[in-house]
Amino acid sequence: MATEQLKPLRRPADYLIAGELGLSGMTRPVKGALAMGRLAKKLGKVGLLLPPRSAGEAALVEGLVVHAVESLDAAHRFLNGEIQLPAVKPDTSSTEETDISVGDFSEIKGQHALRRAVEVAVAGNHKLLMIGPPGAGKSMIAKRIPSIMPAPETEEQLEILSIHSAAGRTIRGERAWGVRPFRSPHHTISDVGLLGGGTIPGPGEISLAHNGVLFLDELPEFKRSALEVLRQPLEDGEVSISRSAGKITLPCAFMLVAAMNPCPCGYLGDSKHECRCSPTQIQRYRSRVSGPLLDRIDLHIDAPALSIAELRSAKPGESSALLRSRIDAAKARQLSRFASATITSNARMTHAHIRQHCQLDSTQGDLLQQAMEQLSLSARAYDRILKVSRTIADLAGSERIESPHLLEAIQYRSLDRKLFY
Ligand SMILES: Nc1ncnc2c1ncn2[C@@H]1O[C@H](COP(=O)(O)OP(=O)(O)O)[C@@H](O)[C@H]1O
Ligand SMILES: [Mg+2]
Repeated sequence: MATEQLKPLRRPADYLIAGELGLSGMTRPVKGALAMGRLAKKLGKVGLLLPPRSAGEAALVEGLVVHAVESLDAAHRFLNGEIQLPAVKPDTSSTEETDISVGDFSEIKGQHALRRAVEVAVAGNHKLLMIGPPGAGKSMIAKRIPSIMPAPETEEQLEILSIHSAAGRTIRGERAWGVRPFRSPHHTISDVGLLGGGTIPGPGEISLAHNGVLFLDELPEFKRSALEVLRQPLEDGEVSISRSAGKITLPCAFMLVAAMNPCPCGYLGDSKHECRCSPTQIQRYRSRVSGPLLDRIDLHIDAPALSIAELRSAKPGESSALLRSRIDAAKARQLSRFASATITSNARMTHAHIRQHCQLDSTQGDLLQQAMEQLSLSARAYDRILKVSRTIADLAGSERIESPHLLEAIQYRSLDRKLFY
């Protein structure tokens, strides 16, 4: 219109319009159609015009009219009232596919302690670190954690899909409706890859893990800087990326799950392999995860490998559905506890919350103090233990924290005592 190649539009276009334009004037699909749909709705637009292959995705946003335009000419004629275009139907065919690679907890044999720690972590939204030799099943378990998290609500699902769509991943098959993301970035990942950004800014792994799980396998191998930059987003649930043109903020509320070997060769404490690492090597390896990040991990759990005989004889474990039902109940207790607060999970409790909801009787107080002293636990472990105790009590359906709950929570501080003191 500016160059007068087109007649000025007769009616004001209260549409959001996006698309890539080919030299021929035909439109090409764009990334992030779903996010655009959500924006159009938020801005109170009449509707959204998109290239055909992007339109179905945006139509997933309820109460928004999306039209597909094949060319710039079609867009102009539509806006000018010269042609009618049907409202595009939501592309649900792409979202009904289930992601078969997720797997179920019943496939995991033995590993009762590890399964239990995972249950506690998911129930209270706690961060988890698994320590065990290669082949212990750490990756296998981590991958299945989304299957025991509560099913995402519509809004959460739209957030997930928007982010993945903005990263240029097709929603088709990539992320099924009802499944939370599982992201497992390699330890060589760049800070930009992890946090997001780039010349054309896009979401990083932590945002792709939004509403799901971020799995950091081989935690000590990650660059120190990568672990440092994770701290703020972990706290805030969102990440700010500075650009010359300004700042963009992306959501990144994920559950952090990490795994590491007990020593550089991986076989320390293994009954079938000999560990060849020197004490200095072991200390150096472990100290790489010490400090600020470890500080924020509530549960540490040792995961020995099962022998072949154990793997063959062990019965299938509890199913994801069963675990999920217990976790849902524990989460419901937390929601009612924090009904008038701004938090929704035990992991987010402040000092004031802890004082109110994690009261110990004098015997339990003594017990905790004794454990702290005898196991030389750090002061920072204190609040973590109380929060985790609260979650264990919630899983047990108990109003009060009882001594067994407290004792179990103390056990999940193995790294504090064995490694750094
Ligand atoms: N507890 C288990 N139950 C069933 N299979 C297991 C278990 N532990 C290990 N496995 C088998 O061993 C393989 C390697 O496990 P993996 O999760 O990759 O171990 P890790 O990540 O601890 O090195 C798995 O794919 C699975 O076939
Ligand atoms: Mg692994």
